[in-house]
Amino acid sequence: MLTDRVRYKPLQDKITDPATAARHIQDGTNLFISGFTAGYPKLIPQELVKRAEQGEKFKINLFAGASTGDMVDGILARADLLASRRPYMSDKIMREKINQGKIAFKDDHLSQLSAKVRAGEWGSCDVAVVEAAAITEKGHLIPTMSVGNTPTYVQEADKIIIEISAHSPQLEGIHDIFIPEDPPYRMPIPIYRTGDRIGKPFIEMDPSRVVAILFSTEQDHCPIFMPSNAISTRIAEYILDFVRHEIIKGRMPASLPWQAGVGDVANAVLSGFIEDKNFESIDIFSEVLQDSVLDLIDLGKVRAASGSAMTLSEKARDRFFNEIYRYRDKIVLRPVEISNSPEVIRRLGVIAINTAIEVDIYGQVNSTHVMGTQLMNGIGGSGDYLRNGALSIIVTPSTAKGGLISAIVPMVSHVDHSEHSVDVVVTEYGLVDTRPLTPRQVAEQVIKKCAHPEFRDQLWDYYQRAVRERGGHEPHILEKAFFMHQRFLECGDMHVK
Ligand code: COA
Repeated sequence: MLTDRVRYKPLQDKITDPATAARHIQDGTNLFISGFTAGYPKLIPQELVKRAEQGEKFKINLFAGASTGDMVDGILARADLLASRRPYMSDKIMREKINQGKIAFKDDHLSQLSAKVRAGEWGSCDVAVVEAAAITEKGHLIPTMSVGNTPTYVQEADKIIIEISAHSPQLEGIHDIFIPEDPPYRMPIPIYRTGDRIGKPFIEMDPSRVVAILFSTEQDHCPIFMPSNAISTRIAEYILDFVRHEIIKGRMPASLPWQAGVGDVANAVLSGFIEDKNFESIDIFSEVLQDSVLDLIDLGKVRAASGSAMTLSEKARDRFFNEIYRYRDKIVLRPVEISNSPEVIRRLGVIAINTAIEVDIYGQVNSTHVMGTQLMNGIGGSGDYLRNGALSIIVTPSTAKGGLISAIVPMVSHVDHSEHSVDVVVTEYGLVDTRPLTPRQVAEQVIKKCAHPEFRDQLWDYYQRAVRERGGHEPHILEKAFFMHQRFLECGDMHVK
């Protein structure tokens, strides 16, 4: 009985239907939702679309934890219901509308969002719509598969709508909810080990602000990452080899926690641990936990796994819920301002691995804008981890678009992470540890080791000319620095014909 999940009896009066609940959302509403790849509300967005289809004209400002599924970002973007959206998203149609200037989008480091909302930087927090597993006896919320910014959204919202999910009954105890003080006088966040729990297993909520409760049988539909391919496996092998070497040389303790960003390489690295006898007791201090984390827990290789969300395939989700006793003690789900906290990432000494769209010869990184203009997804947590990791690794396949684009370029067309945040650059052709190198040495090594062989000559020619003609600490010929991008824009191919 889903009614039993509303254990704070006075709130049972608020149980209603989606149409009634959604009336609290009108033209211009600032709508703050749960959701961080998973754990997003599903009924209210559908209801809003229904209203639009019936001819009602309205637009809302949507704030989430990060990307959500098609049932939020996809359908709302297709129905043209969004005036603005923050932060990170990964929906194709939403991306198109953002790039056309039809949806206002501002990118933020994910660790900083909750504090900005509490400071009022995003305007009034009109309505929060939150997916929950249950409401406790005292009227607090048990979240589902993600925490994201939900604790702050619930704290700040004028009105709260709750969607109780039928699919996540046993999640109680997996979350660790802690909202830090705001500056000035913010106290340290007392996490000293990956698995430390410092907060409460529920989100504190003022029940008097709850205006509606719904029951939902809808499931999360998470992006499924492909099994590792030859490129991601090769990149993962370089990383594991390198870290193993650093540990043997005594330059790095064996027990640093790992963060792996979104995508195939992240999964390949974690899968690499499965066979590797050198990594038997791993800590994962990351943002999103994927299927591979469950595999590693099953093998007894994980000491603790901390994240803000679990993005599981359907098969892995069934396994997770059927055998949750196996995973509960190992996994902690935290607010994203804690999972991505620069303070905690530095204290723990996280090995951070994130994916770039392009990297330049001096190690500057573009993670977000194709050809410098078209937003892909957003910076997400990559800046939180790369800037603060003990070892910051940026990875990319050496080419994109079937080999027509080189991911190693003379100068990135947009900068998300500077050379000062990047320690190691890896493609399927090789790895460069930039830490002991001067910028000129970095350029030489990145061209020789990381660039695709078909693009090495033109990168080398450019670099040599820049050294000869302009010199300086980081030689560049400004009027030529984007010649590869320019060629792609003109001919659809970066190769010299
Ligand atoms: N030029 C043009 N397009 C490029 C490109 C380049 N240099 N590099 C990648 N792309 C395109 C791909 O062609 C693909 O486009 P498609 O969907 O139209 O096929 C798309 O970018 C995604 O690339 P893909 O190779 O599938 O890699 P991915 O899924 O690993 O995504 C990022 C790569 C960089 C887009 C993704 O990791 C990201 O959004 N990162 C920023 C946020 C982040 O790092 N979060 C983790 C922090 S915890």
